[in-house]
Amino acid sequence: MRLRVFAATSLALLSLLPSIDAQAQASVDDGRKLFVDGVAPLPACALCHTLKKAGASGQIGPDLDDLRPDADRVEKAMRNGIGPMPSFKTLSEAQIKMLASYVAGAAGAP
Ligand code: HEC
Repeated sequence: MRLRVFAATSLALLSLLPSIDAQAQASVDDGRKLFVDGVAPLPACALCHTLKKAGASGQIGPDLDDLRPDADRVEKAMRNGIGPMPSFKTLSEAQIKMLASYVAGAAGAP
C-alpha cells in the first residue's frame, strides 16, 4: 500500500518535470523581451548594448558578450546607473532579477 502511494507520488512528480522546463524557458524569453523591448519610458538595453543571443547590436555601452558580467554586476548597473547609463529603478524587483540573470546567462558569465 505504502509502496503504491510512493509510486503514484513519483509518477506525479515526474510528470511535473516538463512544465518546470517550460517555466525556465519562459523566463529566458521574458528576460530577452525585456532586454530588447525595454519598459517605457526607459530606453531598452538593446539600444545601447550588444548581446548576440538577444540579437542586440547597440554600440553606446560596452559589448556584453565581451564584458560577460555576472548577475550581481548587471543588477548593480541597473539599480545605480553607471556613467551615461541611466538607472532602471522604475523596473519591478522581479524584472530587475529576471534581466540580471538573463544577461549573465546569455553573455556566458564565468
Ligand atoms: C542609454 C544607453 C544605455 C542603456 C539604455 C543601457 N545601458 Fe548599460 N551601459 C551603458 C554605458 C554607456 C555603460 C558604460 C558605463 C561606464 O562604464 O561608464 C553601460 C554599462 C553597463 C554594464 C557594465 C557595468 C559595469 O559594472 O561595468 C552592464 C552590465 C549594463 N550596462 C547592462 C545594461 C542593462 C541590463 C540594460 C537594460 C536594463 C542597460 N545596460 C541599458 C549604456 C546603456
